[in-house]
Amino acid sequence: MTAVDDTPADSRPDATAPHDAATPGDAAAPGDAAAPGDAAAPGDAAVPGDATSTEETSTAADRNVLTVRGLTVGVRTQVLVNDVDLTVGPGERVGLIGESGSGKSLTALSILGLLPEDVSATGSIRLAGIDHDLIGARERRMSRIRGRHLAMVFQEPMTALNPTMRIADQIAEAMLIHRTHRNRRAARTAAVELLERVQLQGTDRAYPHQLSGGQRQRVVLAIALANDPALLICDEPTTALDVTVQAMVLDLILRGVAARESALLFITHDLAVVATVCQRVLVMYGGRVVESGPVTEVFTRPRHRYTQGLLAASDLESADSGPLAGSAVVDGDRPRLPTIPGNVPPAGQFPDGCVFRTRCTHATNICATTPAWTGTSAQGFACHHPAGAPDA
Ligand SMILES: Nc1ncnc2c1ncn2[C@@H]1O[C@H](COP(=O)(O)OP(=O)(O)O)[C@@H](O)[C@H]1O
Ligand code: SF4
Ligand SMILES: [Mg+2]
Repeated sequence: MTAVDDTPADSRPDATAPHDAATPGDAAAPGDAAAPGDAAAPGDAAVPGDATSTEETSTAADRNVLTVRGLTVGVRTQVLVNDVDLTVGPGERVGLIGESGSGKSLTALSILGLLPEDVSATGSIRLAGIDHDLIGARERRMSRIRGRHLAMVFQEPMTALNPTMRIADQIAEAMLIHRTHRNRRAARTAAVELLERVQLQGTDRAYPHQLSGGQRQRVVLAIALANDPALLICDEPTTALDVTVQAMVLDLILRGVAARESALLFITHDLAVVATVCQRVLVMYGGRVVESGPVTEVFTRPRHRYTQGLLAASDLESADSGPLAGSAVVDGDRPRLPTIPGNVPPAGQFPDGCVFRTRCTHATNICATTPAWTGTSAQGFACHHPAGAPDA
């Protein structure tokens, strides 16, 4: 991303430490009544005897937990993620949104060092406290970072769980691997406490197949939080769950990161979830970040035409100010939401210039050239004819 960063570092939203806003009582948190008392999280904040090697001691000059610069991901000659910049501050909750096929998961997998073998990444990914770039890091190094400094929750919990192992033992194992607890007994005690925090008390001897989908996802969350990671990455963690269970899992994620002051990178196609969970958001399309900024700004005054279309197609309140709002079709008494014309192209078939131009009703000839980033690294957009401009 070519960004003109004209903001002093200290005044940038992504350079601040907004975790004090992420308290469990945050009005945005759904189902606030659930999981009482997690903020105190006694016991699980202590990380005695951390055995991370000296290579992982802090040398990072900046204060971000995560700094991604110029991330480009491809398979053979095909570019799937293009020049993505992304930062997450300490305790900050950042959303990554976009339709399916936008490149969100590949971005997450690049950070985690879990890209498939045929897919390669270039650019830079730095994590606070780790003195080497995550791009190109050997698996031996990444396995020391994953589950300790960096943890993840994916859409399908069964892929993360061992079907042959009792769930408390799996949580304890995550602690023992990273030596954050003195011995097996201490880890097992902490695992049982952690299960209580995700409201799975009494299930410690259960196997994954004995639990529901929502319960399994809470076990995965417990494993992810087991070592108090600096950054939790969630990729569509509630997409496969019933709506009522979704709210509970989201609440537990929020409480879990708040109790540990962990930062959160939350990936979803669901704008309402981002509005609930995140402070800042990046909008992806065609492998590029097309807009970013505080959720309150981006969702009420979108500048990029893709963001505007996404909002109009969602049932967030701001939809009525979107570009397609006037075209909402009334079906009986129920207005149908407008949709973005056309579909997300398959990988490798996005147009040159603005990646959105084959679907954009505002496109002109100049959109055949790549729009420059306007704004700062923390808030801006890349569009030749942005919404809200005097001539828009
Ligand atoms: N291993 C792969 N080989 C080739 N193309 C891939 C591979 N993984 C993902 N893609 C393609 O890259 C694009 C972005 O994928 P992804 O990051 O999973 O999108 P999202 O998570 O936003 O839905 C999609 O078009 C997808 O088909
Ligand atoms: S650059 Fe052009 S095609 Fe792309 S979103 Fe803006 S107006 Fe539409
Ligand atoms: Mg995905």
